[in-house]
Amino acid sequence: MTKTSSCLSILQISDLHILAKPEESLQGVNTAYYFQAVLRQAFAELRDVDLLLLTGDLTQYGSLTGYQFILEVLEAYQIPALCLPGNHDYADFMGQVFSGGLVSCEKQRLFGDWQLICLNSQIPGEDCGIIEAEELQFLEACLQAYPEHHALIAVHHPCFKTQSAWLDTMIIKNSQEMLAVVGKYPQVKAVTCGHIHQEMDMPLNGIRLLGTPSTCFQFKPESMTFALDDAMPGYRHLQLFADGRIETSVSRLPGKLTGLSPDIYDH
Ligand SMILES: [Fe+2]
Repeated sequence: MTKTSSCLSILQISDLHILAKPEESLQGVNTAYYFQAVLRQAFAELRDVDLLLLTGDLTQYGSLTGYQFILEVLEAYQIPALCLPGNHDYADFMGQVFSGGLVSCEKQRLFGDWQLICLNSQIPGEDCGIIEAEELQFLEACLQAYPEHHALIAVHHPCFKTQSAWLDTMIIKNSQEMLAVVGKYPQVKAVTCGHIHQEMDMPLNGIRLLGTPSTCFQFKPESMTFALDDAMPGYRHLQLFADGRIETSVSRLPGKLTGLSPDIYDH
């Protein structure tokens, strides 16, 4: 897929779950291998990428070496990257490692007619998410400051239900409060998240709520309890147009994911 002229091209990857040592596996899946394989495929398929967006769970246990490995891989592409934390991440180490240059934890950036806002939904030590009052104020301040810019919001946890009972206990606790803020600003076009390790694209009051696959193992859609799917790792491509339109699609590595060995899922 090539970039259509005059649009912003964003490559979103999520839920890398990188371990302290790149040779280690989680749920039978070598997370470091698939992270790199997804990026290789994305850059082969997408002619132009303006920005990489990483929506949380970059590492499984918040290891410093995990973030350093991610930085090394990302820097090789020489493209700006914005990273936000998920429930598995250790935000202090993220901030230390992604501290400037091309790869950063910046929470807001303008690109032409668009504003990208990255929110932190992490509750340290817990699996579910929340948009704390300070973060809601930040969101509102960004939207008030740039009313003429279309807005894309990125956040780790979903603000919508997924029809998977076990995952739906871990959405943003105060989703309604967040969506009430979003609803006041018609320039918001979409909210894109990670966490659910599967693809979703749902309309809500004129905006799109997007979920992006993991770059490693996938969760089985519409499952009552934790279950893995054999769908392959993938990425989301977002094209943001000057008129506010979004075109987006998910692409996955070919085949079926083999070698899965489900452990008790440690969120
Ligand atoms: Fe995850």
